Amino acid sequence: MLTVAIWNLKGGTGKSSTALNLGAELAIAQFKTVLIDLDGQRTLSYSLGMDRSTPNVLDWLEGRGKPLLTEIDQLYLVPGDIGTFQLFSEDNILKPCLRQLKGFDVCLIDCPPSLSAPTLQAIWSADRVLMPTLAEPASLKGVIEAVGLVRDEQENLPVDVLRTRYRSRLKISREVVEQLVAVLKPVHYRLLKTTIPDNVAISESIARQVPARNYATSSPGAIAYRDLAIEVISLWKLGPLLP
Ligand SMILES: Nc1ncnc2c1ncn2[C@@H]1O[C@H](COP(=O)(O)OP(=O)(O)O)[C@@H](O)[C@H]1O
Ligand SMILES: [Mg+2]
Repeated sequence: MLTVAIWNLKGGTGKSSTALNLGAELAIAQFKTVLIDLDGQRTLSYSLGMDRSTPNVLDWLEGRGKPLLTEIDQLYLVPGDIGTFQLFSEDNILKPCLRQLKGFDVCLIDCPPSLSAPTLQAIWSADRVLMPTLAEPASLKGVIEAVGLVRDEQENLPVDVLRTRYRSRLKISREVVEQLVAVLKPVHYRLLKTTIPDNVAISESIARQVPARNYATSSPGAIAYRDLAIEVISLWKLGPLLP
């Protein structure tokens, strides 16, 4: 099983939306996928209609309960709990629980913003980090800091940076991308080719508690997440896409 921590220091960069929509695309492509909601805000669980479900992540970390099947075939969720901020970061309690998961191809961990204990658990346990970011000057600083923090925790952990809410026509977006490339290149981190556009279908689908593909299948947002799945299936060597 490939474990990917979806993280950025900043909030509102599309972490939970990416976990939801990329998870759905991977599941549709027949990869058995489990999403772990490590953010006490539970946005991801809510967006799958499974807020306040039990067993939640705290039960699961204590060895009780299994991931719950969502309404999407092959897509499972360990729902979040408001109490995750109480987790400690002395021991890696997440990794042994991940090892217990049998038969999954991919695990996407939706992390809270900031470098809290749940985030550290995810970084220590992950094979890679997926870092959604806005292409704005204020976000660039956050990416530089986040990249440094990942390197401090796990020097060789690969990081893929994803541009979300991307407005390609803006000059400022292109300037920030140039700066991003300059920051990522020396540490061999990757700026993904796929960009996720700023598209209201993404936020509207969360209100409907479904992935964008189930709400507006031909919307630019839904199509972009399909493209992202194709890119990462190849990059992460997940195997061939089924026809
Ligand atoms: N590509 C997008 N286009 C438009 N709105 C988006 C997009 N991605 C996320 N959003 C909206 O931005 C807000 C924050 O997204 P979210 O995924 O919860 O970010 P995070 O998990 O990083 O805090 C939500 O209201 C969400 O609906
Ligand atoms: Mg979130």
